[in-house]
Amino acid sequence: MNTLHHSSNTPFVLTIASTKGGSSKSTNAANIGGFCAEHDLKTLLIDTDTQPTLSSYYALSYSAPGGIYQLLLDKNTNPETIISKTVIPNLDLIQSNDPSNNISQMLRNAPDGALRFSSMLKQIKGYDVIIVDTRGTRDITVDMSVLAADILFCPILPHILSAKEFIRGTIGMYQDLSTFSDFGFKLPPLKAIANCVDHTNDVKFVLSQLHTLFQNEFTDDKQLATFTIPYRVAYREAATYSVPVYRHSPTEYNTIKELCLLLLPQFKDYFERNFEV
Ligand SMILES: Nc1ncnc2c1ncn2[C@@H]1O[C@H](COP(=O)(O)OP(=O)(O)OP(=O)(O)O)[C@@H](O)[C@H]1O
Ligand SMILES: [Mg+2]
Repeated sequence: MNTLHHSSNTPFVLTIASTKGGSSKSTNAANIGGFCAEHDLKTLLIDTDTQPTLSSYYALSYSAPGGIYQLLLDKNTNPETIISKTVIPNLDLIQSNDPSNNISQMLRNAPDGALRFSSMLKQIKGYDVIIVDTRGTRDITVDMSVLAADILFCPILPHILSAKEFIRGTIGMYQDLSTFSDFGFKLPPLKAIANCVDHTNDVKFVLSQLHTLFQNEFTDDKQLATFTIPYRVAYREAATYSVPVYRHSPTEYNTIKELCLLLLPQFKDYFERNFEV
């Protein structure tokens, strides 16, 4: 039974973005979403990637006829026709249903382009947390997802070429979007977290370089966590079985809990409750 109250207020929006493909955005979205939902938070996943990895991670108990396309482009849409339900209680999903990438083109031609998503999200009620997954390249759908966020989580792979792409692409995008602050938009704080971390010297070296860079060159709105997510085959296997990673491999429970505490500290009381895996 749910004893803590559910917020009927505006949901907190966590966007996961990195212009580097394959940096475990969708994996994190699925695991954070599962963790929040299983700790009694009403959680909505939104898949904005044209390749619907997140949409197909969990099995659905109800598949809505519509998805992200209707949310952004159909003015008369209503939630029942676009919000699907996963088999995990409390975990809903707006599926990606734009394989031909029409959304990006339409948004680029719309006067409210990158801002429409933000105003559409404000109309979605009844959730504590919304988790937005994005595609691994620079695109207006990534811009809109960053502008709609309360916090921006950037997973980084600790390899030199990925780190360079992170600085050029993801930090570049974030700086470019700061022009929106002239129009009253506040950019979300950026939290970078290294993923797929192993014990090799190469990874240690890249991480120490990244920490130095964040400390010396970046302002406080951009932070690199000392917490890291390890490289484990369990993450791939969990996706195969369509379950959160801590259900497949209970040793990962504390990793996902720490990740959620870092990104969503306001829900600490939910995350600290007894939980059996
Ligand atoms: N911590 C981890 N350890 C090992 N493998 C992982 C880990 N996290 C994710 N992976 C694997 O890395 C691959 C890429 O992950 P994922 O699809 O989440 O990346 P993405 O950033 O969403 O990619 P894209 O940019 O294509 O959307 C997947 O096979 C996933 O299972
Ligand atoms: Mg993905």
